[in-house]
Amino acid sequence: MNDNYLPSNTNSLCCMMGKLEQPSLSVTWADTSLSKVCDDASSSNSKFLTDIKVHIKLGFEDFLRYMENPYALKYKPACIGFIVVGVHFGDEGKGKIVNILTAKLKAQGYHVLSIRGQGGGNAGHTVIDAETGKEYHFHYLTSGVLDATVILLGAGMEVDPIRLNTEAEQIPEDKRERIFVDERAVLCTDFDRAMDAYLENCRKNSGKPIIGTTKSGVGPSVALRAQRDHITFADAKACNSAEELYNLFAKIPNIPDEVRQVVTMEYAEKLYTAVQSLNVVNSQAVYDFARHAGWAFLLEASQAHGLDNLFGNSGHYVTSTHTTAPGAVADAGLSMEDFRNGFIVNTGKAYSSKVGAGPFVTKFDLNDSIEKETDKFIHDLVGEFGVTTGRLRDLGWFDAVAYRTAISRNGSPYIALNCADVIGMLPYGYMKICNQYRHIKTGRVVDLWPYAQEEYEPVWYTDETGSDKISVNWDIYGINNAEDLPEAVFDYLKIVEKTTGGIVRYIGTGGSSKDIVEITNSVRKKHGMCVIPDMEHEM
Ligand code: IMP
Ligand code: MG
Repeated sequence: MNDNYLPSNTNSLCCMMGKLEQPSLSVTWADTSLSKVCDDASSSNSKFLTDIKVHIKLGFEDFLRYMENPYALKYKPACIGFIVVGVHFGDEGKGKIVNILTAKLKAQGYHVLSIRGQGGGNAGHTVIDAETGKEYHFHYLTSGVLDATVILLGAGMEVDPIRLNTEAEQIPEDKRERIFVDERAVLCTDFDRAMDAYLENCRKNSGKPIIGTTKSGVGPSVALRAQRDHITFADAKACNSAEELYNLFAKIPNIPDEVRQVVTMEYAEKLYTAVQSLNVVNSQAVYDFARHAGWAFLLEASQAHGLDNLFGNSGHYVTSTHTTAPGAVADAGLSMEDFRNGFIVNTGKAYSSKVGAGPFVTKFDLNDSIEKETDKFIHDLVGEFGVTTGRLRDLGWFDAVAYRTAISRNGSPYIALNCADVIGMLPYGYMKICNQYRHIKTGRVVDLWPYAQEEYEPVWYTDETGSDKISVNWDIYGINNAEDLPEAVFDYLKIVEKTTGGIVRYIGTGGSSKDIVEITNSVRKKHGMCVIPDMEHEM
């Protein structure tokens, strides 16, 4: 047995080795030797394929037994981990990429630990059950909820326990019991939503630009945490009565009356009951078990790089959490080591969209008749309404500057390019790619996202003829095999890679999670795209 699998004390060591001296954990650890399944030793992905055949069949029942009385395990990172992160302003279809990764991991015999690290009710994603076709709209649960062995809402999240329960009630009962909330996650309730609305109103009245938040209270609950006046799930769970919970709210300082009065005794009772019904845990125990049990980690970073609290749009038109891959990792209480064997997917669309206030450099110019028609066409075809707010999203051209910056901050070149089918149907048959930003006053041109974006205008990519119109005329809706893609798509992907510096790994060809094409090394080779030598984690 590999020494890495050995826990640190002898009692648990025996049990982890299958000697069953701790009868409550009646587990047999399977052989951990690697079985080689890849015949082609020269294949670039052979290392990965051998690694993934480590089958240690510890499942949900074993997890529950461990969580009853967790004990320290010797440190080891996850054997495989993936992060799905948004490139631009959110709503890029991350859920679809999560679905495809989850399905592939499950097919390879993995248990999947589905994790969110940050954000809360501001996120909105549509999940379609592959078996029943049933459609769900989630704000708190992960996109991987239906297929994962365990779902963990991490420490950096802001969660409304009542709304979480309402979401959970929609899914089958056997999946509901698999949802766990980190004890350090912050309660985000009517109180925070009232504060969110109150603050936006104050901004408006003072003449300060509004942020255009989703009014889901995430900002205020993060602010309370920063000032150490927040209420965690551990705090709420430790209350012996609804009255105690009510008193926790009453003690939060500097709250305007109109916000404070939102938490009545009756509401505190509902919150109290909801918190008591949830599985509140220390996420470190979850991670330690899953690392040792050989589960795959799948982290969903909410929102997107362009909304990151620190690095997002112009510093102020941002959400309140860290939305980059390393930010989500830190907020979940994980380590980048957990993602060493696996990869990070920068998920974006082949055009841009944005809700909320703040600059949007590549936004369609609605005074231009062609761009206005293009805007209308996408809205009519795709919808492009915010799942959380129902607001119509602003639309624009592809922003390679945003991609380039996200790639660098997220630490991965891999791109999932959704809505490639949509741009192929645009009424005027062309796409524009913003390759740089130019300062409107000084004319200075920049390659990376600048701070004050309202001061910049797009510089378009031009081809060898000097044209900024890139031909995108194709019908690829629903295609899921690279063989069926027209050559024009690959010509386009080459430009995307040239301008973003990234590597397109997936392209989305429709709304369903099946509508996706993987751009493998063999596909790349066939179509004259550069072959990626270290793309060893091909799935
Ligand atoms: P907040 O996160 O509700 O505070 O909103 C701050 C900004 O982030 C606003 O521009 C929102 O529209 C935007 N935002 C927050 N969450 C999402 C999301 O999941 N998708 C798209 N935009 C979002
Ligand atoms: Mg969304």
